[in-house]
Amino acid sequence: MTPLQTLATASLGLALMTLPLAGMAQEAPESDPETGLVMAEGWETVRSNCTACHSASLVTQNSGTRNHWEYLIRWMQETQGLWEFQEETEATILDYLAEYYGPKEDTRRPALPRTLMPDNPYPTVADSG
Ligand code: HEC
Repeated sequence: MTPLQTLATASLGLALMTLPLAGMAQEAPESDPETGLVMAEGWETVRSNCTACHSASLVTQNSGTRNHWEYLIRWMQETQGLWEFQEETEATILDYLAEYYGPKEDTRRPALPRTLMPDNPYPTVADSG
């Protein structure tokens, strides 16, 4: 091998070695094996306040905006005996829920473009002109 080839091989090896690291950095945080809650900032506060009356899976199966979560908390406070939170605690809980159990992305695929559709057998607005 020429020195240049050696260098090229070495840098390729280096590049390949750093690839998995780059991938890991983007991975989502792990979930707690016991509750299933995403182990990110605030999760312990959620665990200690939101799993006393029902399973954490009720939390992890739900999703929605910060407003949705706040509405649920108010509902549980008014009708289910959920305690009042300190402002800071509530903010931690809502931040966490909105971030990790936020509104689901629309799972419907976008409509097909006109060119991929079969011919429309019915007259359309375009034909009536
Ligand atoms: C004091 C008891 C109590 C605590 C603490 C509690 N919940 Fe609840 N929660 C309930 C009850 C009761 C229900 C109704 C369960 C049912 O329908 O079987 C409920 C239902 C829910 C639901 C389902 C709502 C629906 O639309 O069906 C979610 C989501 C939820 N709770 C999230 C939370 C979160 C987040 C926390 C922490 C901030 C929390 N809960 C803490 C009592 C509690």
